[in-house]
Amino acid sequence: MQSPYEGRLIRLRAREREDEALLYQWFNDPEVTEFLSMRYPLSHAQERAFIESASEISYGKASFAVETLADSRLIGGVGLERTSPENRSAVLGIALGDKTYWDSGYGTDTMRAICRFGFEMMNLHRIELEVFEENRRAIAVYERVGFAVEGCRRDAQFKFGRYTNSLVMGLLEGELIGHKE
Ligand SMILES: CC(C)(COP(=O)(O)OP(=O)(O)OC[C@H]1O[C@@H](n2cnc3c(N)ncnc32)[C@H](O)[C@@H]1OP(=O)(O)O)[C@@H](O)C(=O)NCCC(=O)NCCS
Repeated sequence: MQSPYEGRLIRLRAREREDEALLYQWFNDPEVTEFLSMRYPLSHAQERAFIESASEISYGKASFAVETLADSRLIGGVGLERTSPENRSAVLGIALGDKTYWDSGYGTDTMRAICRFGFEMMNLHRIELEVFEENRRAIAVYERVGFAVEGCRRDAQFKFGRYTNSLVMGLLEGELIGHKE
């Protein structure tokens, strides 16, 4: 049996208090948050509160830490939230805060693992997300695993003194590409 928490490179696990120091470092790094809606410096207290609120994983808040299978190193987080049982849909968010792991396949593997978890363990029908139009790395990953662009929210984000568009992307059950043997 393939573990529902594991991809080929990563494992999804519950968040722990000990994760706080890395989260504080990552989410105060403008390079990590460039294409995220967050813009204010975060305190240790805010990170502790986030972990506290996210550490009990449930249908309504399926928020995970992402660690490497090779050495159990924490490299980021991913989650399915705003879940609707009537529509069987959820909104996905992902951030690999450890920049040394970018462009090495970890994001793609994490996306496949969380979407498989959403479809096979949470019985979702639809997963959607929003991405800054300029986040070409993220869009390449989302398209590779099967997400389609469904719309454009014009000037939806204002950061660094200018507006940028946000793309809405969606993936339905049966559309996930890759890793299903
Ligand atoms: C976006 C993110 C999840 C992607 O994870 P990752 O591990 O870097 O992604 P992967 O290595 O699996 O794939 C990245 C792909 O994008 C490509 N890429 C990188 N920069 C690119 C660019 N400017 N234009 C087009 N493609 C690009 C890479 O070449 C790679 O494709 P390849 O494997 O065919 O070479 C990760 O970088 C991240 O968390 N970034 C910070 C937070 C963020 O932006 N989150 C998403 C918010 S919507």
